[in-house]
Amino acid sequence: MNNKMNRDIEYVLADRELLGDICEKLGKQITEDYRNSEHPLVFVIVLKGSVYFAADLIRCIPLPCEMEFMKVSSYGAGTETSGFIQVHLDLKRDITNCDVIIIEDIIDSGRTLEKLSHLLEDRGAHSVKCCTLFDKPERRQVDLNADYVGMRIPDEFIVGYGLDYDEKYRNLPYVGVLKPCVYSK
Ligand code: PRP
Repeated sequence: MNNKMNRDIEYVLADRELLGDICEKLGKQITEDYRNSEHPLVFVIVLKGSVYFAADLIRCIPLPCEMEFMKVSSYGAGTETSGFIQVHLDLKRDITNCDVIIIEDIIDSGRTLEKLSHLLEDRGAHSVKCCTLFDKPERRQVDLNADYVGMRIPDEFIVGYGLDYDEKYRNLPYVGVLKPCVYSK
């Protein structure tokens, strides 16, 4: 813990070993659930936070599949009618009749996942499920849960393994709780 980023971490929430165990466990569940499906399997990796998780998770799933990337932002209140989703980077393929698994690093209010799920369903996917590394249930503002959850966590400011504060700390190889003095400056 002697570099500049490490000094900003209060404590480690998930080290490399735990992250690896989570990916293996979720990978086995997904493999079991989709092994007999006859629909193309497409992982929709939501940029930027989920890139490291997606890379490790998908390598634990020995099934034919494709990787697609999206960058989205959700705005507005929690209801479907009043909120909307802005797509900054879209899929490169048609997902009609595909089994889609959205990969997220974290679910907070749940708005992003709710709107993204509806968007992909509207595009004709055969099924849309979500796998998230972290879930903060106490922050939820819509009635929605991921199908696969790595770890439920309290409402702490976490960074690392893809998760950022002000675009920094994504490259920490573990997930840590950021010291409040860093973001209250
Ligand atoms: C985070 C996260 C989810 C979303 C969750 O992305 O990756 O996409 O917020 O929040 P919600 O449940 O309240 O909708 P962010 O917008 O921070 O982008 P990033 O992954 O590029 O950091």
